[in-house]
Amino acid sequence: MTEFSARVERVSISGIREVFEAAGADAINLGLGQPDFPAPEHARQAAVDAIEAGETDAYTSNKGTLELREAIAAKHGRDNGFSVDPDDVIATAGGSEALHVAIEAHVDSGQEVIVPDPGFVSYEALTHLAGGEPRPVALREDLTMSPAAVEDAVTDDTAAFVVNSPANPTGAVQSEADIRAFARIADDHDVLCISDEVYEPFVFDGEHFSPMTYADSDNVVVVNAASKFYSMTGWRLGWVTASHERVERMLRVHQYVQACASAPAQFAAEAALDGPQDHVEEMREAFERRRDVLVDGLEDMSLQVPTPKGAFYAMPRVPDGWVDEAIDRGVVVVPGEAFGDHGAGHARISYAVGIETLKQAIEVMREATNAAR
Ligand SMILES: Cc1ncc(COP(=O)(O)O)c(C=O)c1O
Repeated sequence: MTEFSARVERVSISGIREVFEAAGADAINLGLGQPDFPAPEHARQAAVDAIEAGETDAYTSNKGTLELREAIAAKHGRDNGFSVDPDDVIATAGGSEALHVAIEAHVDSGQEVIVPDPGFVSYEALTHLAGGEPRPVALREDLTMSPAAVEDAVTDDTAAFVVNSPANPTGAVQSEADIRAFARIADDHDVLCISDEVYEPFVFDGEHFSPMTYADSDNVVVVNAASKFYSMTGWRLGWVTASHERVERMLRVHQYVQACASAPAQFAAEAALDGPQDHVEEMREAFERRRDVLVDGLEDMSLQVPTPKGAFYAMPRVPDGWVDEAIDRGVVVVPGEAFGDHGAGHARISYAVGIETLKQAIEVMREATNAAR
């Protein structure tokens, strides 16, 4: 048999899947990383209309349709206060491909990428696949990433650092001061800041800020997606935006791995971005209510949990054996170490489930807590 590449041998299938496999068929799944809402009706209909009109049978331009890129540019102007030329946007196969092209285009073999620990699993894996070296930085007590810790970790070999706010797996939201500091670090040290903003609309306390708003240099790449924003994970539609030069390099990767994002998904995402946003606000309000119920429940069983300010995850500290006790009783949660060494001693709980199911799960977690203590 032929050998495999050293790069692929450094990556394994996410530990999250193993947890799902261990769970019974009727388990309550608090392991899921997707909203439990339907996609907006007008987004679905736009794809149906485009398919029926025969508009989705051919490749689109590599970057995606101009109409979608205009909708993305308008969204950034409206929500984020920075202007984007539609020509400087690439529609991708979800946020996942956006992260891939960003890392592939900017990280050389042996170069370092600073990533939050615990953090979303793709950052480390994609860095390995690019031949780079992930440099995990531990989070603060409140599970936000400290700009000082990032700055300390920057070396001559650093190609990029990843900011993820609101964050998976912690639900933490970085303050405006932190985001300004990340932009300054990107400027001062001439390193790339990859800002993963896929949970942008789900902020409960405070606001979402993007380093793109504050950087003076072009050292920021923004990754976003329709996946969580509009509950469209299955549509596989994300995007990346940055300076013209950076987009031109990322396009070289995108062109050869993807050609273009799926055409029906582009029509759906355009309609989602241009249409009414009340569906997003309804999801945000539902997540906030559930966050409150979950945090109250966890605190009531004396688990320590920084109040998550966004996304739809909480990450309490848990006693040894807690995750197994919960899974054995039929509630699936993900062990913190699946997200990095510093995740050990924590569990990620997703509250992308209805409130009654969440309340049932809290009672099961209470039993698990008593059993593990
Ligand atoms: C922080 C973060 N970034 C990016 C992604 C990728 O999202 P998708 O490829 O589904 O758009 C996810 C998915 O869970 C995520 O949690």
